[in-house]
Amino acid sequence: MDDIKFREILKDCGLSANGISILNNLLLESHIELLNNIINFSRDDIDNLAKIKPCMENSANEISDAFYLRLAGIEGLRGKLNADTKLLEQLKLTNADYLKSLFELNYDENYYKNRIAVGLAHNIFGISPSIYIAIYSYYNNLVSSFILKCCQKNGLSLVDTLKTVNSIQKKLTIDTTFAIESYYKKSIDDFYKIEQASFSQLVTIAEYRDEDTGRHILRVSNFAKIIASELGMDKIYQEQLLHAAPMHDIGKVGIPDKILLKPGRFTKEEFEIMKSHCEIGHNILKNSESQTLKQGAIIALSHHENFNGTGYPKGLKGEEIPLEGRITKIADVFDALVNKRIYKPAFTIDETIKIIRDEMKPKEAFDPDCFNAFFKGLDEIIEVKKNIDGNGHPDA
Ligand SMILES: [Fe+2]
Ligand SMILES: [Fe+2]
Repeated sequence: MDDIKFREILKDCGLSANGISILNNLLLESHIELLNNIINFSRDDIDNLAKIKPCMENSANEISDAFYLRLAGIEGLRGKLNADTKLLEQLKLTNADYLKSLFELNYDENYYKNRIAVGLAHNIFGISPSIYIAIYSYYNNLVSSFILKCCQKNGLSLVDTLKTVNSIQKKLTIDTTFAIESYYKKSIDDFYKIEQASFSQLVTIAEYRDEDTGRHILRVSNFAKIIASELGMDKIYQEQLLHAAPMHDIGKVGIPDKILLKPGRFTKEEFEIMKSHCEIGHNILKNSESQTLKQGAIIALSHHENFNGTGYPKGLKGEEIPLEGRITKIADVFDALVNKRIYKPAFTIDETIKIIRDEMKPKEAFDPDCFNAFFKGLDEIIEVKKNIDGNGHPDA
C-alpha cells in the first residue's frame, strides 16, 4: 500500500491531522522492533513461512472469503456486514491483500500501514475492539488450518509444521496488535476533536463582543499555522498552534464594553485597562491540564510583546518572548490591519504589507524569522483569507 492510498484511508476514517500524525508515529521502526522482540519473531520464523509461501499466496482469497462468510453468519455481525455489500467486498479484498503481503515476507513500513488501514476499516464499520480481538482469534485458527494444509502439501515434517504454525501465530499477533492500536489512536483523536470543538466554542463566545464573528480568530489561527510551517515546525506543533492561537484575546471578556467597543482612540487610562486583557487571558487558561490551553495561556500573555522589548505586558525582548507569541503576533497584526475594526477602516493587502514592512519593521515589532516566514507564506495566507471570508459568514 503506497503512502497516498494510506493517507486517503486515514482521511476516510475521519481522522484529524493530529490523528494522522499519531498513527504515523505508531509506525516508527523502534515500535515495530519492540513488538518483534517481545513476541520473539526472528529470521527463523520468516524462513519457516517461506517454505509454504506459494501455497499460502494462492489460498489468500479462499481464506478471506471463508473468514467473511463465517462472520456474516454470526448473529450480531450479520446486520452490519450485510448492510453494506460494497464495503464487505472491499474488506474481503483488503484482507486477501493482507495475506498476500504477509507472504511476501517483507515487513516494511508499508506493510504495517496496511495493518493499520484494516484496523481502521473495521473501526468505522462499528466493530468494537473486544469483538475485533475475538474475530482475529478465530482468524488465527482459520489461517493456521490453511498453514497445516500447505505444510502437508509441501511434505514438511511434523516438527517443521509445528514451527511454521508457531511462526504464523507470532506474526498474526504482532499484526493484530497494530490493527488494535489504531483503534486506540482513533479514540484519542476523537477525544481530541471534541476537545478542539469545545475550545473553538469557548473562543467564539469571547470574541463575539469584539469582532462580531469568529472569523478573525479562524483567520489568525490559520495564518499562525502557515507561519509555523514556514518556520519548519513539526505538524504536531502546527496543529496545536491552530487551536491555541484563537485564544490570544480571550482575556477581552474581562474588558468593559465602553472600552472594548469604543470607536475612537483610547485615553491613557483606557489603554492601560485594555492592555490587561493579556494577563486576564493568561489567568483564565494557565491552570488547565490541556497542553493546548496551556499554549493558549502563553499566547494570551505574549502576543502584544515587541521583539525590541517595547511591547506589553512584560516588555519581553527577542527570544524571551515565547515562539507561539511571536508567531501569533504577526498573524494577528496582519489580520487587524487588513480588516475593518470599530476604530479603523480596512487597509488593502498592499497597504498592510507596506505598514508591516516599513512602519513596524522586523526587529522592532516582529521576530525577523517569523517576519520572513510570514512573507514566505504570504500567498497561502492570502488564499486562506479569501477562503474563510468567502464562506458566507458576516464580515469581521
Ligand atoms: Fe490582543
Ligand atoms: Fe486578535
